[in-house]
Amino acid sequence: MNVSDVVVVGAGLFGLTVAERLADRGMDVTVVDRRAEIGGNAASAFCPRTGIEVHTYGSHLFHTSNERVWAYVNRFTTFTSYEHRVWTTYRGEVFPMPINLGTINQFFRSAMGPDAARALIAEQAAELDGREPANLDEKGISLVGRPLYEAFIRGYTAKQWQTDPRLLPASIISRLPVRYTYDNRYFDDTHQGLPTDGYGAWFARMVDHPRIDVRLGCDFFDPTQPVHRGAVVGQAPVVFTGPVDQYFDLAAGPLAWRTLDLQQEVLPTGDHQGAAVMNYADEDVPETRVHEFRHLHPERAYPKDATVIMRERSRFAEPGDEPYYPVNTPEDRARLATYRELAAQEQGVHFGGRLGTYKYLDMHMAIGSALTMVDNQLADLP
Ligand code: FDA
Repeated sequence: MNVSDVVVVGAGLFGLTVAERLADRGMDVTVVDRRAEIGGNAASAFCPRTGIEVHTYGSHLFHTSNERVWAYVNRFTTFTSYEHRVWTTYRGEVFPMPINLGTINQFFRSAMGPDAARALIAEQAAELDGREPANLDEKGISLVGRPLYEAFIRGYTAKQWQTDPRLLPASIISRLPVRYTYDNRYFDDTHQGLPTDGYGAWFARMVDHPRIDVRLGCDFFDPTQPVHRGAVVGQAPVVFTGPVDQYFDLAAGPLAWRTLDLQQEVLPTGDHQGAAVMNYADEDVPETRVHEFRHLHPERAYPKDATVIMRERSRFAEPGDEPYYPVNTPEDRARLATYRELAAQEQGVHFGGRLGTYKYLDMHMAIGSALTMVDNQLADLP
């Protein structure tokens, strides 16, 4: 290949941000991705049958309180005023999420004010009597009390992890949000919304630069590709946003991930569930969530007789599955420490993004950390 000034592996938001910033500084950037589209897990596509924008890898809501990130993303797209709200079905009844005063009063068939609700939850959460929670079950009880935990968290968590929460470590959850108001907005960030003309248009504008060359369907580990690890590392600086364990040929063992099975359907109705996301808290319902994408854009003229839904189920990832959420067992953390050491020694390769650092990152965090990498690690590139 003709080596450009920098090679970016992965056209997710981390890679796109790095590529755009470096091109803006006058560098020639080659971006490769093994997928057929840019945007990584935030990619979307318009359903050819209905014209509805479908988030290919599950609902993606943009939200941030980081002013630098907000100013940056607004250079490429405007945002709608969409505010995300989520509901959950439990034993045939629908409740607002995250747990708020509306959820509490509906669940306990009461009309408590904030002080009374706070006192009730504190009393129920005191069940462990100061003892350290021994597992996720006890941690959940210590955070929101047994009744709310067992209704809204226990079954959902068991489905997410395919494991009885009594067998899961307490460290998986550090807090469970409970609001003692009727505010049921899912995010409380300063800014939230959806890109007005879609994620695809936003991402296309980021790479619409004469110095950026995007090559799709190109796996960095495939030696038959013109841009691959053996041909590039040592020849040009690399920003690598793929899985860090794969980069080192699983030398310290594989890092564990959870994946999602996402099943998309077009239904012959103008509205299936009345909201963008419905969680299913019951353990005997196999789905964790159902997404209905039309509700993300109430301002658009979508058809009145068809809708697109996506059923989501969660399980541990097998080799070949898309990695979505780090499992993060003590064994994973030990392996990650080894990969971090290897990464620090790998000359000319910068590891970033959720796969490159084995961290769950929201979109604004991926963008923010990419901007920081450009400032701190890539500022002096030739
Ligand atoms: P990302 O995974 O997006 O990109 C990495 C890219 O590297 C991929 O395109 C991949 O194909 C490519 N790649 C990997 N290996 C490669 C190789 N060997 N060769 C070439 N290319 C390779 N965030 C948020 O803010 N709001 C939300 O609502 C949601 N919702 C959400 C739902 C679900 C189900 C998930 C899993 C995640 C979210 N997110 C989210 C998080 C969001 O998806 C995340 O912040 C970004 O995807 C992170 O961007 P990255 O660039 O780090 O990774």
